[in-house]
Amino acid sequence: MESPNLVQEVRDWWSRTNAYLAIPYLDTQHLWLARLILQMEHALKQAQDEDFQKLYLEFLGQAKRYAQRHFRVEEELMGKFHYPALSSHQKRHQNFIAALDNLSQRNFRKENIFVLYRFLRQWITTHILKEDRHFASFFARRRLSINEFFEWYSRKEGNELSREEKEFYREVLGDMHHIVDLKPERVEEVRKIFTSLRLELKVPIIDIQHLWLIKLVVDLDYSLKERGQVRNELFSAILMDLFRYVKEHFYAEECLMEALSYEAFKEHQDKHRQFVKNLEIQYKIFGDALQERLGVTLLKDLRSWLYTHIALDDRRLGRYIQEHREKSALVSKKLLQDKKITLRPAQIALYKAVKEQLALPKT
Ligand SMILES: [Fe+2]
Ligand SMILES: [Fe+2]
Ligand SMILES: [Fe+2]
Ligand SMILES: [Fe+2]
Repeated sequence: MESPNLVQEVRDWWSRTNAYLAIPYLDTQHLWLARLILQMEHALKQAQDEDFQKLYLEFLGQAKRYAQRHFRVEEELMGKFHYPALSSHQKRHQNFIAALDNLSQRNFRKENIFVLYRFLRQWITTHILKEDRHFASFFARRRLSINEFFEWYSRKEGNELSREEKEFYREVLGDMHHIVDLKPERVEEVRKIFTSLRLELKVPIIDIQHLWLIKLVVDLDYSLKERGQVRNELFSAILMDLFRYVKEHFYAEECLMEALSYEAFKEHQDKHRQFVKNLEIQYKIFGDALQERLGVTLLKDLRSWLYTHIALDDRRLGRYIQEHREKSALVSKKLLQDKKITLRPAQIALYKAVKEQLALPKT
């Protein structure tokens, strides 16, 4: 029997571990694999003693077939782009399949089954975070266009993702699916802005949000390169997202400032309010006219306000947080727990991708 909370459970796993690669085809398969494992856990827990062994073997077989399908595409991708660590990665995959074979030889008792879950969960999480993430950043750094590979690969018989898989992916991502696709060249652009304007505050809870704002500004910029109706629709949609997110972010910052009794709280809050008001007015004018010229002006104003605010006002707040580290850590944790501040998987993924690129030596 399927657990009603499968989507939520996989979502929790995903945001906890941040196993997101920003490669939709592979992310979809990773989510499906996580789903298979969780499904197995639920089914085996409820199984009658006499059905247990049969069910156990069935699930192992299913996991093996799915893993093989998934490994095949990863290996083909790595081979195609001459990924240098292909053979050691391949070896890991083989070891996993061998471990599954080994498990099906064993007679697991129901009361010991948690050993199996632990192994499966740990293996896929560690493998994605270490080896899979490694090739993902290899592709991102070289700006290889792997999308074409997946288009080509999916056209081959039996390789297309199923409707269920795609739907599950969208469900797990929720309303973020349309902007979650972090294109490597955009990540690179976000990183450039972040470093060249020195916007990093070294306060992850805020940096994560700022990066997301920068990303939305970059997306907005790109939307203006489109033509006609597409451009207008895209621009409005992203602007709405940005608008929503700006408010969410300001609220988060204000909660932090208040809880930390930050001395310039009121002053900072006023700036936020003023900005939202201006944006609302401009958006209204833009919405009525939908003219290209207005879009460009709006974007220019928005960008310069936002980046200046981060570089000056938020930086000051950042310093204050650094000076009150211990209290800030407690307050941030509480705000996250109470869901006054939320960080989505895609946002954390972007942050990690940018930090990873910062850490890598330039090639
Ligand atoms: Fe993988
Ligand atoms: Fe892999
Ligand atoms: Fe901010
Ligand atoms: Fe701010």
